[in-house]
Amino acid sequence: MSFIASDIAARIGTKIETDHATLAGGSKAAEIRELLELRGILLFPKISLTDEEQLGFSCTLGALVEQGDKGLYKVTLDSKITPTAEYLRGTVLWHFDGFSDDVPARASILTARKTSDIGGQTEFANTYAAYDDLPEERKQTLSELRVVHTMAATQRDVFQNAPAEMQKIWESYPPKVQPLVWTHRSGRKSLLLGSSADWVEGMDKAEGQVLIAELQTWTTQRKFVYRHEWTVGDMVIWDNTGMLHRVEAYPDTSGRMMHRTTLVGEEPIK
Ligand SMILES: [Fe+2]
Repeated sequence: MSFIASDIAARIGTKIETDHATLAGGSKAAEIRELLELRGILLFPKISLTDEEQLGFSCTLGALVEQGDKGLYKVTLDSKITPTAEYLRGTVLWHFDGFSDDVPARASILTARKTSDIGGQTEFANTYAAYDDLPEERKQTLSELRVVHTMAATQRDVFQNAPAEMQKIWESYPPKVQPLVWTHRSGRKSLLLGSSADWVEGMDKAEGQVLIAELQTWTTQRKFVYRHEWTVGDMVIWDNTGMLHRVEAYPDTSGRMMHRTTLVGEEPIK
């Protein structure tokens, strides 16, 4: 059994070098969960798990979200493989998964099956660290604010001049009001932003959008971000409750394929 963990950057990310048997056995599951909580992103370079191994390993970490084929969702722009592929175009914007869920997914586990020659790299931003570095008085002011998240906000910058029919579908998703600062059970706090953040409750809409944009720029500054350049076989786990993520745009024809499993959320946003 081998298991070597080393930090990638000061404020985000740990690389873990291990083997299939160690992951499958679950003996390191508690340690992996703890590292995920502390470091936000875990990278297993070229671990090359099969689908079955990915599913088995994911189950050692928590309950799996029902999605795709027996819990394994294929992230591709090919709608013949994944009918919801069109929505993935919005993932070029910083976001967290499941803004409308009462209890957003705990974490996602992504393995690279085919990379794109152009684009397709993934970036992650640590919103715990971004919150921690804010001046104390700013933290105080922000803790009072609530943000309205909408589906339209996640899509309108990607599909400019969207036909009315498309906009109608976006509007059919109910908006979700969330606190700007999430106080987790652990006592740690993170900023809840992303492309779904549309406006600030009780604030002039344009003013709220400026505030959201400003905080988003703050959160995604270099020191809080890890950019992963994929090699086939890499596996990355990210804490969906504290990290934002986005993918660089890549061509429809690239054949890029990632296999994702997702851990069920464990705590409501408060
Ligand atoms: Fe995502």
